[in-house]
Amino acid sequence: MRTLNVNLAERAYPIHIGRGVLCQPELLAPHLRGRSVAVVSNTTVAPLYLARLRATLARLDIQPLEIVLPDGEVYKEWQTLNLIFDALLEAHCERGTTLIALGGGVIGDMGGFAAACYQRGMPFIQMPTTLLAQVDSSVGGKTAINHPLGKNMIGAFYQPRLVLADIGTLETLPERELHAGLAEVIKYGLIRDAEFLDWLEAHMPGLMARDESLLEEAVYRSCAHKAEVVVADEREQGERALLNLGHTFGHAIEAGLGYGKWLHGEAVAAGTVMAAHLSALLGYLSAAEVERVETLLAAAGLPVRGPELGAARYMELMRHDKKVQEGKLRLVLLEAIGKAVVSDKADERQVRATIESCCA
Ligand code: NAD
Ligand code: GLY
Repeated sequence: MRTLNVNLAERAYPIHIGRGVLCQPELLAPHLRGRSVAVVSNTTVAPLYLARLRATLARLDIQPLEIVLPDGEVYKEWQTLNLIFDALLEAHCERGTTLIALGGGVIGDMGGFAAACYQRGMPFIQMPTTLLAQVDSSVGGKTAINHPLGKNMIGAFYQPRLVLADIGTLETLPERELHAGLAEVIKYGLIRDAEFLDWLEAHMPGLMARDESLLEEAVYRSCAHKAEVVVADEREQGERALLNLGHTFGHAIEAGLGYGKWLHGEAVAAGTVMAAHLSALLGYLSAAEVERVETLLAAAGLPVRGPELGAARYMELMRHDKKVQEGKLRLVLLEAIGKAVVSDKADERQVRATIESCCA
């Protein structure tokens, strides 16, 4: 097991990464406020891993309330969120109840938002079971649900008090989901760590084959980047926005196609290619560097072209992006491989041209 710390002063918390961390009550015990615990999971993850967590909690003499939601991005919305509040209230949970999210990013984002809201805030723990959630969404305290007009539009910053990333859970992850997680891993290399990008290029076949020590290393290095950025800029006043490479285009793809059609990581991959092309159009990246980005994403089994929504529809959806300031689109671009910047330098004509040249 390897441990990182998110050093947010009084809201600091550890991230424990390794096989079997879900089965270690001593990792969990110091972060529970009392013996009242509610676990939020979904119909796919609960049959796989809830019994394991139940057994760990039983060793602490805790019988959790179990809240099992339907599975899918399409359920990251109000009515499903409300099922969590219904269950907590029906069971008379108090504000000291600890809420544990056991699942991927959808369960983590919804569980975290529920924890932020229920009685104005209850203790929250992340137990991510997808690669994407282990490398990104479980760390940093962004919680949200989607709105038909825009992705993650309703939410709160709310930090967990512990993250347990059990690498063993990645064994059962569908292939397409593994690839989607790799999109966010590649992101860290592109925005702030050229050496990590070299490492990913060298080890992509092993990662695709789920070599456990490589996956653990990728999760560890990704979480180290995420923790560093979050500590520097918890509320996204600056540097944290760089974690959104490819996301402005990607969120437009997800909302434009209907949530769940493309996976978040797939949309981010196609969006990252668009960001790379736009970076080249502005003179930052060479054609060879753009090709390098595409080749690595393709090697991770990810799409490198966006769906044909039409440039006008992309532009309309992108106007809802949270980085928009006084109506002006701001995009994360690559100044170089390993160095990102938030920029409003691209004009609408250049963004449209990029979208048109990067769609299938
Ligand atoms: P997801 O939560 O939908 O999980 C993907 C699929 O895998 C689901 O069907 C899930 O039930 C299943 N699954 C989960 N763990 C499994 C396992 N171990 N074995 C088998 N199946 C398993 O998707 P995701 O990719 O984990 O997360 C995407 C979401 O995360 C999006 O909503 C995105 O907006 C959000 N996100 C949030 C942040 C943040 O900082 N909060 C960052 C990135 C992404
Ligand atoms: N996933 C982007 C962020 O946490 O800021």
